Amino acid sequence: MSLSLKDYLVERCALVDAALDRFIPSAETRPATLHKAMRHSVFAGGKRLRPVLCLAAAEACGGRVDTAMAAACAVECMHTYSLIHDDLPSMDDDDFRRGVPTCHKVYGEGIAVLAGDALQALAFELAAKYDTSALVAELARTAGSLHLVGGQVADLEGEGKKVPLEDLRYIHESKTAALLTTSLKLGAMSARANEEQLAAIHAFGMATGLAFQIIDDILDVTQTSEKLGKSAGKDLASEKSTYPALLGLDASRAEAKRLTQEAHEATSIFGTQGERLRQLADYLLSRDY
Ligand code: IPE
Ligand code: IPE
Ligand code: MG
Ligand code: MG
Ligand code: MG
Repeated sequence: MSLSLKDYLVERCALVDAALDRFIPSAETRPATLHKAMRHSVFAGGKRLRPVLCLAAAEACGGRVDTAMAAACAVECMHTYSLIHDDLPSMDDDDFRRGVPTCHKVYGEGIAVLAGDALQALAFELAAKYDTSALVAELARTAGSLHLVGGQVADLEGEGKKVPLEDLRYIHESKTAALLTTSLKLGAMSARANEEQLAAIHAFGMATGLAFQIIDDILDVTQTSEKLGKSAGKDLASEKSTYPALLGLDASRAEAKRLTQEAHEATSIFGTQGERLRQLADYLLSRDY
């Protein structure tokens, strides 16, 4: 905890980027177009929040950053695949992501679909580097029909409708909070966390993850595309079901704040070892992009 949060994030992002560069085949590797497309989206400049959370959870559970790094890269690959597919014309139809044109805008839809597929496969390969199949099983459950993909389906089906709050919560927990939680859990599992630690990490993740998507919805309304590095105002234009659309901005902010408090409480078993996780939860709440 000696580093300020800002310096800590810079340091962690550099470590994660270097590891991703080692794990993803080079841009010259055949088929070069595919590897260029994968690298285009991965190295466009994401915030790396999920890998950072993964590493922080490992440390909170007494583990090491180098041991957790494959898991951290696995969740970033899974996340980047979900963004590439989320941006496709058949889904959210976005042209701009991480400050650059989306994968399908540069490489075409076919290659973008396949770059997403390959990143998802790489995510499982990285999660399989541990001496237990538990990490792969956890990642697979989260990526599948009951969580990430299921949430994306509900998100698409919710377009143009005013869904009840309970259903909106299901969408946000499934499409976003689940992978954020699994990011933390893979870090904890790489550190051989016990049941009590895993339960605390799970509760922290679900609260932070839901707050994270509520803030994403708020920023879509309140920020510019330049600031976000992705098209702002898209949720309203596509008549998406979002927290601000349903509750308004103030009540949405209050809910994100309440969830962040809930996340703090979940970390009490870690004592001072949980301080970085609490700091990260606050950062996710106060971020402006
Ligand atoms: C965007 O996630 C997609 C959501 C689940 C809301 P991030 O805001 O973490 O995107 P990057 O990784 O920084 O690009
Ligand atoms: C993203 O939700 C959820 C994913 C699983 C990718 P959004 O559709 O709100 O994410 P952005 O705003 O495009 O990043
Ligand atoms: Mg979407
Ligand atoms: Mg989207
Ligand atoms: Mg959004």
